[in-house]
Amino acid sequence: NAPQLLVLPGSLRQGSYAHALARHAAARATQLGFGAATVFDLRALQLPIYDGDLEAEQGVPAAVQQLQDAIQAHQALLIVTPEYNSYPPPLLFNSLDWLSRLSENRTAMKPTALMSSSPGQYGGLRALNQLRLFVQGNFQMLVQPQQFALGRADQAFDAQGQLQDARAEKAVDGVLQALAALTNQLAR
Ligand code: FNR
Repeated sequence: NAPQLLVLPGSLRQGSYAHALARHAAARATQLGFGAATVFDLRALQLPIYDGDLEAEQGVPAAVQQLQDAIQAHQALLIVTPEYNSYPPPLLFNSLDWLSRLSENRTAMKPTALMSSSPGQYGGLRALNQLRLFVQGNFQMLVQPQQFALGRADQAFDAQGQLQDARAEKAVDGVLQALAALTNQLAR
């Protein structure tokens, strides 16, 4: 059984480059060893900023369970982060902070790859490295070394959402192939 991939872009924006890269990666994933790939839209969850008073009064929002369920239903995870002031955006931290308030950790040992995207030339690499520390250190995700930062993301896609640069395409494929191999290895 080919593993299933959950792709999590860290932006709410309609025209988000992280979403564009996530869609591209999801489409490629099914050609590179994954049985299916789902892009998870955090906008749909409408999560409030973490607030301990809210949690005490109402518990963890039900929508957080949707994210937990999606992670559990897929054998591998790809997070695509934008870069805000050299860090991942609050959206990703907030979503993961809420997730960490659930009693069971479904992300432990989950084979995970990271990508970033930005109009800047470094492609959000600083945010990517911070995200690696965050998810490895706190969520016990099994983050593979292979990663990709897409620079000049504002010019990277054609009208069909395809990456225009062959080197970028190849880099994305390489990350996905490594993730499929890692996921299969762990399933054995
Ligand atoms: C940015 N942007 C940005 N880009 C970058 O390469 N390094 C950075 O440190 C920052 N800092 C930053 C802070 C804030 C508050 C915003 C709103 C933006 C630009 C950012 O990469 C750009 O807005 C992307 O388009 C955001 O990602 P999505 O929504 O396209 O996925």
